[in-house]
Amino acid sequence: MSDTTIESILQEHRLFSPPADLAAQAEIQGMAAYEQLYEQAKADPEGFWAELAAQELHWFQSWNQVLDWQPPFAKWFVNGKLNITYNCLDRHLTTWRRNKAALIWEGEPGDSRTLTYAQLYREVCQMANVLKQLGVQKGDRVGIYMPMIPEAAIAMLACARIGAPHTVVFGGFSAEALKDRLEDAQAKLVITADGGFRKDKVVPLKAAVDQALANNSVPSVQHVLVVQRTREEILMEPGRDRWWHELQAGASADCPAEPMDSEDLLFILYTSGTTGKPKGVVHTTGGYNLYTHMTLKWAFDLKDTDVYWCTADVGWITGHSYIVYGPLSNGATTVMYEGVPRPSNLGCFWDVIEKYGVTIFYTAPTAIRAFIKMGDELPKARNLSSLRILGTVGEPINPEAWMWYHQVIGGERCPIVDTWWQTETGGFMITPLAGATPTKPGSATRPFPGILADVVDIEGNPVPDNTGGYLVVRYPWPSMMRTVYGDDDRFRRTYWEYIPPKDGQYLYFAGDGVRRDADGYFWIMGRVDDVINVSGHRLGTMEIESALVSHPAVAEAAVVGRKDPVRGEEVFAFVTLERSYSPTDALKAELKQHVVQEIGAIARPSEIQFADALPKTRSGKIIRRFLRNLASGEDLVGDASTMEDQSVLDQLRQGS
Ligand code: WTA
Repeated sequence: MSDTTIESILQEHRLFSPPADLAAQAEIQGMAAYEQLYEQAKADPEGFWAELAAQELHWFQSWNQVLDWQPPFAKWFVNGKLNITYNCLDRHLTTWRRNKAALIWEGEPGDSRTLTYAQLYREVCQMANVLKQLGVQKGDRVGIYMPMIPEAAIAMLACARIGAPHTVVFGGFSAEALKDRLEDAQAKLVITADGGFRKDKVVPLKAAVDQALANNSVPSVQHVLVVQRTREEILMEPGRDRWWHELQAGASADCPAEPMDSEDLLFILYTSGTTGKPKGVVHTTGGYNLYTHMTLKWAFDLKDTDVYWCTADVGWITGHSYIVYGPLSNGATTVMYEGVPRPSNLGCFWDVIEKYGVTIFYTAPTAIRAFIKMGDELPKARNLSSLRILGTVGEPINPEAWMWYHQVIGGERCPIVDTWWQTETGGFMITPLAGATPTKPGSATRPFPGILADVVDIEGNPVPDNTGGYLVVRYPWPSMMRTVYGDDDRFRRTYWEYIPPKDGQYLYFAGDGVRRDADGYFWIMGRVDDVINVSGHRLGTMEIESALVSHPAVAEAAVVGRKDPVRGEEVFAFVTLERSYSPTDALKAELKQHVVQEIGAIARPSEIQFADALPKTRSGKIIRRFLRNLASGEDLVGDASTMEDQSVLDQLRQGS
């Protein structure tokens, strides 16, 4: 990907203005309107958010303080009471939207289903009642391990309806990874399916849940609620496991929305970091509802006539904020797709756009790069003229992929909304507003109103334009993560003390490197920590190392990212073996499979290199920089003189 080098991005001067007809109908029209909103929010953030919260959301009871900021702990809309599902469902039922499509689901193989707002409401209420019947109470955590079927969204909303925080675990994670998360969250119940369809295969989700819970290894879990999807033979443990369709039959479709405190926990979502186990990112109710609502509305210029499709999985934050909560809170039609492009159906994304007349399409750069490789014929053979806005998320988009997206998919008429954000931020932080912001290929453009993003050095000093630095946020925003579940100290250390606070001024550090140009546009350069990004999935190198070391053959492991033209990065592992093991290809295959078992297929190393030793400093720290260079076949960058044993590098270069 030669065109993502800093030099080429510095030379990227193309500018694309929002199409005139789109801009003329947008809620936020033109840069002057954006600048005005930005300045207004900056001058009085509390006033700005309070006005929107009152105007855009339904509250059972108003707040008496907009923001309580005790760095690094924030509370938004203090003592306000609301329920996010009231905003996503109930309030639409008294309008013409009652029978509007809320969720359009395209399933595999060839299934489809549309739920109107009234129908979605019914099913959510029924599941909420079933959860209550199974003993789930306000405050209890519920694990969700599901394929991409409507019941995944229904499960999330049912939890939120009764005030039970959910923790969705991506269906591609292994039983082991699921167990860790259920354990950390102390989940009382798990919602899953007999299986899911993925790439022409059945994924045995229920079997993985059984394995995660085997021998009562997560004693907090009392019940498993199973949705019938594939009709594969599965085991149902008497007393513990219940079928959703059986309980649904007897469940009332009326379940009042529990009035939640604005700061009550809405969900926990686990994500990878530099050190240790995945962290449970905590999001609460009021601020998250408001921020996901506003960002989707303004960045994508969401209209009631839009058919909006985000291709993420509900197991990630993008699915939470922008398949479920953001769109439904706005009363939009959200498309959910169970499939992924696969050899037997490479054009499936374009078929979905044509079939439903999708107007807003939001996907990841890795998918775009994969489509480029498949050739222009596939999209060109479909009618994509319904599209009016395109979006991307998950990793920096290289200008070449941006231009292809713009020309081949967008027919040169659709603005590209490149949204930079994170699990921790809850919603878009740096993003164009479709009807306002001129875009530059490869830049996420400008911060959303209310987001005081900046570029600083490691001491927190601002850096000049066009100089690389750390991407930070200077002021709290409504959907910021509140803490790491059960570990306030880790929250403080990881996000707020990485760059030391000065004079009581705390900077939120996101983990990304960035450059800002003279127009104030941000160019994200990627992670500066030990997190790697494989096909837009975030993986901690430490997690993969721990998985490898848990195999009896492995003495030591070091994992780095190696550049890949389609997936962005791939997992490259250096491994030293215990004395009694020999470095064979069969062992490499076994170790790769071991990682799949411990974490999931998304973490499978593309390559494993055996080594007699790893390069270390005199104090025993692995020098990853060198390993990254070695993995990519580059010359070593940096000084090798701090190394304990220089011959290690020669041996590694010869490879094995
Ligand atoms: C990266 C996904 C460049 C970034 C919503 C961030 C991006 C991490 C972009 C968060 C973008 C996300 N341009 N990089 N538009 N969007 N990233 O938590 O490194 O899965 O820190 O959230 O993805 O990944 P996460």
